[in-house]
Amino acid sequence: MERMIGVIGGSGVYQIDGLEEAEWVDVETPFGAPSDQILTGRLNGRQIAFLPRHGRGHVHTPSTVPYRANIFAMKELGVTDLVAVSAVGSLKEAYAPGDFLIVDQYIDRTFAREKTFFGPGLVGHVPFAHPTCAQLSALCAEAARGTGTAVHEGGTYVAMEGPQFSTLAESRLYRSWGADVIGMTGMPEAKLAREAELCYACVAMITDYDCWHPDHDAVDVAQVVATAMKNADKARALVAALPELLAASKGCDEGCGQALDGAIMTAPAKR
Ligand code: ADE
Repeated sequence: MERMIGVIGGSGVYQIDGLEEAEWVDVETPFGAPSDQILTGRLNGRQIAFLPRHGRGHVHTPSTVPYRANIFAMKELGVTDLVAVSAVGSLKEAYAPGDFLIVDQYIDRTFAREKTFFGPGLVGHVPFAHPTCAQLSALCAEAARGTGTAVHEGGTYVAMEGPQFSTLAESRLYRSWGADVIGMTGMPEAKLAREAELCYACVAMITDYDCWHPDHDAVDVAQVVATAMKNADKARALVAALPELLAASKGCDEGCGQALDGAIMTAPAKR
């Protein structure tokens, strides 16, 4: 099966030069409509799909992003390898605004979102010790390095409910846990991508030092937007490099595409 990159990210990421046959398509899912239409097209001869996570114009809050519809729609379009591009705050001195961090672990503190495709009548438990795909993450790191930005490979993402930013006590708590970055949308996206048997990687774009850093102002929207805008070119370049890197790679050998094998608890229906 031909592999295909999908990108879920913020504005800027999908305004890519050289996207051919570009078309915004509607995709309906059993979980309703995704955050927006999905931009499909060909980049260097390879199919790619982009979905603005918050919708164009930023209309969905982190709690109301239709995560299940988004993942379902990407799968429906034939995406095999899903890359999340997400703005985050840094919880470590060494991770500065402007840097990229390739996430490999999560602490899920969200509590007001639908987190599974399973439900009454069909119960399943997918493995999630390693929530991201190492091969796809390595490709993202390579693409990110190509932009000239500082890239940190591996780190733990605290997913918070929001939409308010953290208190100082919370920010210090997450630091004491050894977490590296904090954001509001990493979960349940990663969980649902695993249930959908997608390879998933998260490129965290660091926009601020949250509120713990004594030498920096506490985070606000202006800081996040200003740093994200400054980095938009690099995020675009990173994404543009991915389809070719994926085509040249040996592909996933970690079983992301077989996550449901052995995961279903419900007995098959008797006929
Ligand atoms: N997104 C960007 N910066 C953030 C922060 N400091 N906390 C939560 N989400 C963020």
